[in-house]
Amino acid sequence: MKHRIITIDGPAGSGKSTVAREVARRLGFTYLDTGALYRAAALAVISSGVDARDGVACASVIDKAEISLHEDKVYLDGRDVSSDIRSPGVAEAASAIAVHADVRKRLTALQRELADRESIVAEGRDTGSVVFPGADLKIFLDADIAERARRRHAEFARKGMDADPSEVFESMRRRDEQDGSRRHSPLRVPENAFVVDTTHLTQEEVVVKILSMVRQALAD
Ligand code: DC
Repeated sequence: MKHRIITIDGPAGSGKSTVAREVARRLGFTYLDTGALYRAAALAVISSGVDARDGVACASVIDKAEISLHEDKVYLDGRDVSSDIRSPGVAEAASAIAVHADVRKRLTALQRELADRESIVAEGRDTGSVVFPGADLKIFLDADIAERARRRHAEFARKGMDADPSEVFESMRRRDEQDGSRRHSPLRVPENAFVVDTTHLTQEEVVVKILSMVRQALAD
């Protein structure tokens, strides 16, 4: 059977992860969290002591690292780093290393390898525009930055992490700027993507909307 690819891109806090995971579950597809790959790569860079601004050195560290996804868990060199990669420091480091073309090349190849094996719902920043431009359906999720920062703060609180709301907002603003202005694969609405503004929608409403778009796209 032909493997299907659905892409869901958008800025931090747009609701991508929860929505993509749930859409994948209901379709029986594999959820590909590409941000987790960038975060695991950032963790490898941090542990190596290499400067995140040095693209060649970062790519060389990532080349040697073994990054894999298995049943919603992320592994770096055989170690489960699923919790470690969720800190604000790793998020900023992921955004910093993601500006380098050599880093993106390595992680794009890894994403395509994973998608070769099964039908997937890929979630990230450039999955529809660069990694899988021929996807069966491309979605771009967006929301007001204030709402996105509120959601991210609530997510930290649920995990027992005590974050300052204004710092969460500021970190999100910095990442928006960095992810949107970088030279290689900046965050953009992919060609032929459907834009869904989630500011005033519940997660379930977004999931239902996307599933109906998937049904239509796969029937065509
Ligand atoms: O989606 P996230 O917050 O887990 O992503 C962390 C960072 O990784 C994000 O700020 C930019 C980078 N990233 C990317 O450049 N391209 C992707 N497809 C996914 C993430």
